[in-house]
Amino acid sequence: MKEGQDRSPAQYYFYDMTTSISSCEPGSVELVSGSKRITAFLDAICTLEAATFGVPWKRIDFVNDLESADSCCMALLSGGILVGYLFAKAVLDEICLNKICVAASWQGRGFGKTLLAGFIDSVKKSSARVFLEVDSTNTPAVRLYSGFGFRTVRIRNAIYESGADGLEMVLEL
Ligand SMILES: CC(C)(COP(=O)(O)OP(=O)(O)OC[C@H]1O[C@@H](n2cnc3c(N)ncnc32)[C@H](O)[C@@H]1OP(=O)(O)O)[C@@H](O)C(=O)NCCC(=O)NCCS
Repeated sequence: MKEGQDRSPAQYYFYDMTTSISSCEPGSVELVSGSKRITAFLDAICTLEAATFGVPWKRIDFVNDLESADSCCMALLSGGILVGYLFAKAVLDEICLNKICVAASWQGRGFGKTLLAGFIDSVKKSSARVFLEVDSTNTPAVRLYSGFGFRTVRIRNAIYESGADGLEMVLEL
């Protein structure tokens, strides 16, 4: 079945949570890809985005990615509720991880790892490397990426409003 096609609930890709989440509540966790399915959660994604980021993406930014053949978009659901999402865009043989977010009340329980593992798994055949930029003071994000083997290839001094440096990180696939 191709990306974007509709699926019956039984056909959603269920990610194996047993090794990556140690303390989540009982209930099914789904890692969902496919633009049609994710579009159904666009309101929740925009709400979570606005609650999380100082300079949030607009709805149109998500829509553009969802409609692009070069994008990889994922949503993580628990009991049918949006827990997190991930948006990335391919450029030639590289893919840029532009957005990863886990709702504040669900952070620190392995959901970020689940999203990132699912993403890497889905792009490793089509991309040679993943690149991203992260605020050097964003400890959870830097730990998440480092734990998956991302390495810092460039430091961009004081690019954030806070004065923090930006780290350009790369993972060879
Ligand atoms: C970054 C983010 C996606 C991580 O998701 P998460 O579900 O909280 O992360 P996980 O529970 O999977 O843990 C990933 C790593 O971060 C660490 N971590 C999580 N929360 C942390 C915290 N509050 N303080 C320090 N480390 C933390 C974990 O210990 C783990 O590292 P380890 O394997 O070395 O122990 C999430 O915190 C988030 O959405 N933050 C806000 C948005 C954001 O900053 N996105 C990234 C922009 S580049």
